[in-house]
Amino acid sequence: MSPLSILSVTIFCASLALISSLNFPDEFAKVTKGVETFFNTGVPDFLPNALKNFQLTHVFRAGMEKIFSNPQLCVLCKLVADLIIAKRRLGVPREVLAKEAEFLCVGLGIENGRVCRGAIGLNLDIFLHIIDHYPVRSGRICGLLLQSYGCPNEGVFNWSVELPGGESVERVSHKGGSFRILQLSDVHYDPNYTPYGNADCGKPVCCQGDQGEGSSVEKRCGFWTDYRDADVPWHLIEETARQVKTQDFDYVYYTGDIISHRIWETSVSNNTKAIAKFFSFLKNTFKVPVYPIFGNHEPHPLNVWTSERVDDGLFPTRWLFKQAAEAWSELVGQDIKETVLKGGYYTVSPKPGFRIVAINSNLCYTFNWWLIVDDFDPYGQLKWLAETLKKAEDDNESVHILTHVPTGAECLNVWSREYSRIVERFSNTITGQFCGHTHLDEFQIYYHSSKSTKPIGVVFNGASLTPFSSSNPSYKIYEVDSTSFSLRDYEEWTFNLTQANLQPGQPPEWYKLYSFVEAYGVDNLEPEEVDKVVYKMTKDHSLLDKYFQFKYRNGDPGVGAGCDDACKRENLCQVATTVYTDDKHCNRFLKMYHQ
Ligand SMILES: *[C@@H]1O[C@H](CO)[C@@H](O)[C@H](O)[C@H]1NC(C)=O
Ligand SMILES: *[C@@H]1O[C@H](CO)[C@@H](O)[C@H](O)[C@H]1NC(C)=O
Ligand SMILES: *[C@@H]1O[C@H](CO)[C@@H](O)[C@H](O)[C@H]1NC(C)=O
Ligand SMILES: *[C@@H]1O[C@H](CO)[C@@H](O)[C@H](O)[C@H]1NC(C)=O
Ligand SMILES: [Zn+2]
Ligand SMILES: [Zn+2]
Repeated sequence: MSPLSILSVTIFCASLALISSLNFPDEFAKVTKGVETFFNTGVPDFLPNALKNFQLTHVFRAGMEKIFSNPQLCVLCKLVADLIIAKRRLGVPREVLAKEAEFLCVGLGIENGRVCRGAIGLNLDIFLHIIDHYPVRSGRICGLLLQSYGCPNEGVFNWSVELPGGESVERVSHKGGSFRILQLSDVHYDPNYTPYGNADCGKPVCCQGDQGEGSSVEKRCGFWTDYRDADVPWHLIEETARQVKTQDFDYVYYTGDIISHRIWETSVSNNTKAIAKFFSFLKNTFKVPVYPIFGNHEPHPLNVWTSERVDDGLFPTRWLFKQAAEAWSELVGQDIKETVLKGGYYTVSPKPGFRIVAINSNLCYTFNWWLIVDDFDPYGQLKWLAETLKKAEDDNESVHILTHVPTGAECLNVWSREYSRIVERFSNTITGQFCGHTHLDEFQIYYHSSKSTKPIGVVFNGASLTPFSSSNPSYKIYEVDSTSFSLRDYEEWTFNLTQANLQPGQPPEWYKLYSFVEAYGVDNLEPEEVDKVVYKMTKDHSLLDKYFQFKYRNGDPGVGAGCDDACKRENLCQVATTVYTDDKHCNRFLKMYHQ
């Protein structure tokens, strides 16, 4: 079996294809020649055959761990981008470009025809608008799109946020009592989920009503949901709420992604409906305040947040801000409309000394196409974050930050860097960071930029309710100090989806998978303690086995893939990487990793 997890298998296949093409430079020359000829003449000629040796299977599917770098991918991307820009500037109509893009998308094995057509139809006009109105270059486009595949960030991408002088002052921490917070993440509610539908559908999400039945019993989707690229039916959301209500907690953090992975066919009206249904469910289910943020799946098309420089009438994003401004104000119990309308972020203080800052980190996601042209802090958000934290510091408040996309891989390098600077400047004010998006139970440590082994913050991933892919559905409950608002511990709760689907008539058997403090033998979740875990992992590799099992919450296919030495090193590196391309801490820990 591959050294990588099941989740990365498709990426692994793509990388194999790339690595093998590296060994055969002629093959790559044939591909580039074929692409050029195709764009110049419109005749595919030998291209389809050449592409068979250069498959980029599912290269743009979200939520994957991008773990290889390949200069050829960057070359090919730039070639295609240059050809499209040149043709567009010569006045080639949209329909022709759409057809050619679809041909390449299918030919490279990126997705099948229906998905390619849908995704191109939803996104092409944005690209054309950018080409038509800005002096954009291919290096910039590919440096953004393929940042996590090692394509260099060419062009500018180097703005910075002004920070107040001084350093974060150590606080005297008084140990008080404690209270609990529930973190739910990445529900990905799928109104089309069809129990016993087709689990082997070849599309980004299966078990859809229009995908027929599974060709055999093994290929049928489960009742509750399914490990094989499926999202969450409403009955699983209701079941989760029922179970969660047996727990005690004072607040709920919802860290984004409500919409399903049927990405080739989203619409404003369908997204609006699903989002409204989910928020009103949260409102009716919990008697305590719920603090939500956006995921990258909420806009239409997904990932794309229209630049402030562009008319919202042409590419609407504001509908989402308007919907959230109302719904979230109700959920958090305060009027937060102003900043939500501005950029999908807000802050509230639920009790004296405690502040929640909810940000829209989807803006930095490398699939947010407007970043191709915007060389600034989108929606002025990081500037606002720094100002908000300064005020909190002056008021002696402790802050929890809610963020969807973790920095470190698919978040634009410059944004990650500036966010990390903010984390460093306010390291003693920020006492918790909570993210989602990867669907994996994981964490990352931020380190001081000059005192380089000093841990200054930790972000905990809420994992996901959706099994997408290979994981068991789960949620987290944190124990929080009621004086310092630092994190003392968390518990991860889950159920065995294989088992639950064998007994569809009964509720799943939820259980506590682990507590962080017990599993890793540390005192609490503060940066110094979590940092100790990483040192321990380098020596005691059984901790990396645990980490791997927890990552998938014991999901049978996820864990079944196994985690060999390469996989353990990879996980160790991910824990220590918060700015993509900054592998200082990754290398530091790898040196300590004993064979
Ligand atoms: C970005 O700008 C800073 C100064 O603002 C400079 O020190 C740094 O070298 C620049 N980085 C890149 C990659 O150009
Ligand atoms: C919206 O949802 C309805 C009902 O599920 C479906 O029939 C329709 O195709 C969806 N529209 C789009 C654009 O996906
Ligand atoms: C914050 O704490 C400092 C040091 O304990 C104190 O001097 C200051 O008055 C406090 N400020 C506020 C706004 O409570
Ligand atoms: C989940 O349940 C299935 C079916 O009972 C069982 O075969 C499997 O070992 C269980 N997985 C784990 C991790 O316990
Ligand atoms: Zn998600
Ligand atoms: Zn996401």
